Amino acid sequence: MKMRIPLAKPEITDADREAVMEVLRTPNLSSGPKVQEFEQAICDYAGSKHAVAVNSGTSALQIAVRSLGLDAGAEVILPSFTFSALLNVILQEGPRPKFVDIDPESYNTTPELIAAAITEDTQLVIAVHTFGIPADVPGIISAISSLSRAGRPRHTIQVIEDACEALGTEVEGRKAGILGDAGLFAFYPNKQITTGEGGVLVTSDERLARQARILRNQGRDPTLSWEDHAEIGFSYRLSDMNCALGISQLKRLEYVTEKRQHLAESYDRRLQGIADLVRPPLSSVIGRISWFLYPVRLSDRFTRADRDWICDSLASEGIATGRYFAPLHRQPVLRNCGVTTTELPNTESVADRVIALPFFNELTEAEVEQVCSELEDSIHKWLRKT
Ligand SMILES: Cc1ncc(COP(=O)(O)O)c(C=O)c1O
Repeated sequence: MKMRIPLAKPEITDADREAVMEVLRTPNLSSGPKVQEFEQAICDYAGSKHAVAVNSGTSALQIAVRSLGLDAGAEVILPSFTFSALLNVILQEGPRPKFVDIDPESYNTTPELIAAAITEDTQLVIAVHTFGIPADVPGIISAISSLSRAGRPRHTIQVIEDACEALGTEVEGRKAGILGDAGLFAFYPNKQITTGEGGVLVTSDERLARQARILRNQGRDPTLSWEDHAEIGFSYRLSDMNCALGISQLKRLEYVTEKRQHLAESYDRRLQGIADLVRPPLSSVIGRISWFLYPVRLSDRFTRADRDWICDSLASEGIATGRYFAPLHRQPVLRNCGVTTTELPNTESVADRVIALPFFNELTEAEVEQVCSELEDSIHKWLRKT
């Protein structure tokens, strides 16, 4: 169904179009100069030493996990309230997922929940900045260090910081993505900036960056000859057109982050009077939010079916909504993979009640008003119905 107000929409300017056209006037469409230029722009922006551009955030995660070289039988701790890419990569790469709950206020997992989940087999923690709200990655790293000093666990635990929803987010004055052993950004068209499809792995570890470059390009080691196939790799390169778009979009990131903060504030002001809605925090004590989307939550007296009814009611008025995220620990795919899971009460409660509202740079104040008034009407309709 064509929506009057979509959930997300990329903002493409004349400068973006010209940047892509400029590449098309050259013969360098892949592995050309725009790839390095984009990687350098990401390094300069985020303050990372290395950046490896790939064709999606999922690919960045997969080459990060593969490059970290986990032992057989390793356990990976991750939130369940996140995107399915994380589960796909872990199941493909082989370690055992262990899901942790979230703090419903920040939608993120916490150092305490991670520390409590660590076992002898834990080798990796994936910390996610959900919806662009900063997760306490420094706290997670120091909780891991305290356990290691106390002799638990027996392995070094590495941290991947998934900032795929969080380009522009800051944690204690540093850019999200550069705090762990590897960080990830993603650029699908619903993100803060887009390359069409695309992702970047950032790291300060030279070995990891080198390995990631080998893996993204069919396992070819640039120090050997072109015909020498050194490792099992992937075809995860990002084209020069994508990178040119990324370079052009990245120049506007500060404006985009501020614009999205204003939109979040507009939603917050307009939704304040609605009793059954939980609004997200507008700021975070640990850093800056870079809004990926704007999530609201229905109160506990609503069920998942009620939430779905309200989303359908909005859709019938031409307003798109998102039901992010379906918890990973409840996914049917796990039944075939022999993974056992426990209940995660906050994740389950939040996932059943969350509604992502339309959110994109060019969303107008008038559209925010329309979304909010239709949402209010739908909630009232639901109340009258019950
Ligand atoms: C937290 C998180 N990780 C990874 C990804 C994967 O990114 P992509 O869709 O570019 O593969 C996404 C995508 O939205 C995401 O939200």
